[in-house]
Amino acid sequence: MDKFVVEGGVRLDGRVTAAGAKNAVLPMMAAALLGDGPLRLERAPHLSDVRTMLKVLEGLGCEGRQEEDGTVVLETKGEPNVVAPWEQVRKMRASVCVLGPLTARAHRAEVSLPGGCVFGVRPIDVHLRGLEALGARVTIEKGYVKTEAPGGLKGAEVFLGTAFGPSVTGTMNVMMAATLAKGRTVIHGAACEPEVADLCRCLVAMGANIDGIGSPRLVIEGVERLGGATHRVLADRIEAGTYLVAGAITGGRVRVDDCRPGQLAALTDRLREAGYGVERGDDWIEVHGEGFGQRPRPTDVTTQPFPGFPTDLQAQWMALMCRAEGVSLVTERIYPDRYMHLPELVRMGARIRRQEATAVVEGTPRLSGAPVMASDLRASAALVLAGLVSDGVTEVHRVYHIDRGYERIDDRLRALGAKVRREEGGE
Ligand code: EPU
Repeated sequence: MDKFVVEGGVRLDGRVTAAGAKNAVLPMMAAALLGDGPLRLERAPHLSDVRTMLKVLEGLGCEGRQEEDGTVVLETKGEPNVVAPWEQVRKMRASVCVLGPLTARAHRAEVSLPGGCVFGVRPIDVHLRGLEALGARVTIEKGYVKTEAPGGLKGAEVFLGTAFGPSVTGTMNVMMAATLAKGRTVIHGAACEPEVADLCRCLVAMGANIDGIGSPRLVIEGVERLGGATHRVLADRIEAGTYLVAGAITGGRVRVDDCRPGQLAALTDRLREAGYGVERGDDWIEVHGEGFGQRPRPTDVTTQPFPGFPTDLQAQWMALMCRAEGVSLVTERIYPDRYMHLPELVRMGARIRRQEATAVVEGTPRLSGAPVMASDLRASAALVLAGLVSDGVTEVHRVYHIDRGYERIDDRLRALGAKVRREEGGE
């Protein structure tokens, strides 16, 4: 298994271009099961999750490939197969996004339940409730969700909230199903994340009829069939945010090009509060610090649904606050157990206590490089960022987690000046 070796002590300086958003492209790929013609997704990132989704779709009878420039081309010829097995779904929770499209197109599906993950239970009850509201019979057998809708799905009013706010992939699944249902579906409590809106735009390009895009109330008029389309995937705001925090943590200057600054307002607001300069244009954001060794002002964050502070940037923010000049509170409201990075940061000298869903981070002037274990995608990114400002060498093991969601992060950090290399032979 590969590991990253990070040598701390360098102020990052430079520009990086945002890749396409992982959490938009994966459900969009599943949408290829809904349409008749080829679906071209431009600016798809080169990620292992994209390759996993290509395999899941191949198993369902959808032919696909990723071209060198990233473009993913997919086509489902004829009726899809309807079984998505555990061996594939367990590798990537986002595979559950095939459930809605299969039920809509083939009127039945058998998709393995994705199971838990390192940061909690992660149920899919809302996805299932939504499909039931559209008329599917849903049963769970031998670890699989089975849906049946012999006469096809029918539009309905559904509420998709959960105890922790709206569900992102739940909204996507039900919305995709509704595009081919008979009549009108109204989704209340829809997730407003930009990735949901981008999927809506892709579906509209395929011929779907969706109103209220970007809002918590989506109105979908079902159509007889969807066709192919060409769609450019929106920029990955979480990747962009990670590079901005990398710039800040090193007191450096990092500009992210080809992104949507408005979608990162919660982060840029917190960065300013923490004492960094932030500038932005129509499609770029730049963060600048006062030089290596700069300690941020302690700045609290609470994760919330969009447009609040994203849970997918919580770990990176915690890494930044580890060196703050005082105590900050990081509260996780989406996944109260998403704290796998906490004990690893403590191994690097951070002072963090957890009190239920809140981490109390007492800034310290010095972090110390150590071998640490990546446990999930964003936790791994946080450990790399902490390594950039630690004394000595940090080895981040199990980097396959990072490769799921960051395209060539080692090369791109190196281009900003970081001393990061990938080596074989990790734990
Ligand atoms: N929830 C339920 N029931 C459901 C679905 C969700 O109770 O049926 C709860 C979850 O347990 C959680 C909250 O609702 O407490 C929100 O979960 P959501 O369904 O929105 O999460 P998701 O759709 O499974 C996506 C991203 C995650 C990101 C979350 C939150 C994809 C493929 N994944 O997950 O991304 O953290 O939304 O924004 O889009 C990542 O990229 O590292 C990642 C984990």
